[in-house]
Amino acid sequence: MVTATHKTAPEAGITGISVQLRNLSHWFDKGSERLPVLDRIDLDVAAGESVALLGPSGCGKSTLLRLMAGLDAPREGKVGADKVRIIGPDPSRLLVFQDPTLYPWRTIRQNIALGLEARGLACEHGHRVEATLKQVGLEGFGTALPHELSGGMAQRAALARVLVNDPGLLLLDEPLGRLDALTRLTMQAELLRLWQDAGFTSILVTHDVEEALLLAQRIIIFSARPARILQEIRVDAPYPRHRDAPELQNLRRDILETLGHSHEL
Ligand SMILES: Nc1ncnc2c1ncn2[C@@H]1O[C@H](COP(=O)(O)OP(=O)(O)OP(=O)(O)O)[C@@H](O)[C@H]1O
Ligand SMILES: [Mg+2]
Repeated sequence: MVTATHKTAPEAGITGISVQLRNLSHWFDKGSERLPVLDRIDLDVAAGESVALLGPSGCGKSTLLRLMAGLDAPREGKVGADKVRIIGPDPSRLLVFQDPTLYPWRTIRQNIALGLEARGLACEHGHRVEATLKQVGLEGFGTALPHELSGGMAQRAALARVLVNDPGLLLLDEPLGRLDALTRLTMQAELLRLWQDAGFTSILVTHDVEEALLLAQRIIIFSARPARILQEIRVDAPYPRHRDAPELQNLRRDILETLGHSHEL
């Protein structure tokens, strides 16, 4: 039997969306010049998998997430979800940004209900708002306004706003980057629990090598801009993981070396 401490994959039936990147290149126009950002990226992410993306600042990670969310179209190559070419945003693929962008004049409950409202589902699925508040540990704060929440709570509310739509693919762009170290540890455990319970595919951009090692089944390391895949690392350790585990420490060394930070070992 699989015990709670030895889960390696989502507990629920997998409802995640798979992702296919094929020879994906992207650039921005800068006057008459091109700013190359992504360089021929090939990657497959399985349904329900948890992947972390690491790479130097400015290499193109957020750009890549935006392409997977369908917020921008790639200049070259293809981005697919469940093997269907992505041509625009969809509530089944949602992006959580580093800064929680809650509407200050709406209560937490109203902020979370936004996506359902936009899709005309607020009446039918209103009960999901309460369930999601509970899921992220914000029960009792439904009527609070964003300024009444701490940074960690606001980030949970931003997560809830996405989770209420029951996404098959969750794209997380440094969602814990602005949190203090202790809140960050709590939120890492919560992200892990949410992923294990819900079964969505999770693609997490982080600057924190430990965070990637604690959460992801696979870590993709990118070069400086234009981002190319330098290395893929499979992390087979069972969950929950302990940051001091020797196997994680060894992987951490490898990763820092690939990122060119071996002096920090
Ligand atoms: N809309 C845009 N127009 C022009 N250039 C852009 C645009 N978005 C991003 N860039 C440029 O593309 C490059 C990659 O940016 P991106 O935000 O994807 O990097 P990143 O890896 O997420 O960086 P960080 O780790 O600092 O968040 C940067 O040089 C950035 O200036
Ligand atoms: Mg970024």
